[in-house]
Amino acid sequence: MYVCICNAIRETELRCAARRCRGNAEAIYGALGRAPQCRQCLDEADDIIADELSSDSMGIAAAA
Ligand code: FES
Repeated sequence: MYVCICNAIRETELRCAARRCRGNAEAIYGALGRAPQCRQCLDEADDIIADELSSDSMGIAAAA
């Protein structure tokens, strides 16, 4: 599923990038070499990033 139509960023790509670099959606887009255009996706992207970081930290806790 595409999260950002303007930049053709898929949810899987966004989740993967969120695990590699920290920051909000704009920061993650920048890490992917893209910049927000219409900005309509940013709230949903921030939610997906927060969800990914939450599930990532739960994985670390489970592995410890
Ligand atoms: S849909 Fe992401 S910037 Fe337009």
